[in-house]
Amino acid sequence: MSRIVYVNGAYVPEEEAKVSVFDRGFLMADGVYEVTSVLGGKLLDFAGHARRLDRSLRELGMEMPMSEADLLAIHRELVARNDVVDGMVYLQITRGNPGDRDFAFPPAGTPLTVVLFTQSKPGLADNPQAKTGLRVISIEDIRWGRRDIKTVQLLYPSMGKMMAKKAGVDDAWFVEDGFVTEGTSNNAYIVSGGKIITRNLGSDILHGITRAAVLRFAAEAQMEVEERPFTLAEAHAADEAFITSASAFVMPVVELDGQKIGAGAPGPVAKRLREIYLDESRKTAV
Ligand code: PDD
Repeated sequence: MSRIVYVNGAYVPEEEAKVSVFDRGFLMADGVYEVTSVLGGKLLDFAGHARRLDRSLRELGMEMPMSEADLLAIHRELVARNDVVDGMVYLQITRGNPGDRDFAFPPAGTPLTVVLFTQSKPGLADNPQAKTGLRVISIEDIRWGRRDIKTVQLLYPSMGKMMAKKAGVDDAWFVEDGFVTEGTSNNAYIVSGGKIITRNLGSDILHGITRAAVLRFAAEAQMEVEERPFTLAEAHAADEAFITSASAFVMPVVELDGQKIGAGAPGPVAKRLREIYLDESRKTAV
């Protein structure tokens, strides 16, 4: 059975799905996306992802093409039609197809392109990497200045993943002016002197939905959180490190640029936050 995807109002087998060659997403990377995880057939943090989608669109002068309720219904329908138990729902909205190539935005009223598809990942929450931790390298952050908008311009993050692969490790952390911004597709944290330290929100990082939830749970568990930029040197000297994202949840980082972080094994803070995050977000999954 082939995967059913959603394209502009229709549920179709992936082989039959079509987007124009003049689509702004294809020609200009003029579009935004969201990734929502599914556990036990239910969507985690859906409202947070819908809110960020709305913000990303507005920041680029686009508007939500449908209500949050309709968006949720499409997510659920795709999960059901594709029998997704654990996995992800990807959504992309672009500025549509103006019928030709032009740098200027298409006239108001040009319909946006809306595409959603699923990925099935059985056992997503039992990823064995949570037990071993990730090894990362640091690379220069040369992305554009509006990283708070979740655009489909993912070339440099893809190159970063390839640099990591070439170095024989799992991922890369971006560094700007000596400070860690975030991971290629996740937010970055260190734990030092009992404090959880992660870069403060701004236009230089994506405002992770998992980050927001994890910081809320950390505060509720009386863990101390400091939102500020941290240096690569601080990361090397940290007691532990971890990342968060919709697809990885909370994932320990045990090595940076070939050097062990702390004991070189997943630390207690990352382990605890992973457990809390999974427990709590399952409770509110829809
Ligand atoms: N990436 N920072 C970047 C650059 C990201 O691409 C992501 C998510 C995050 C974490 O955001 P959230 O917690 O909302 O997933 C931070 C998704 C998972 C992806 O591109 O696949």
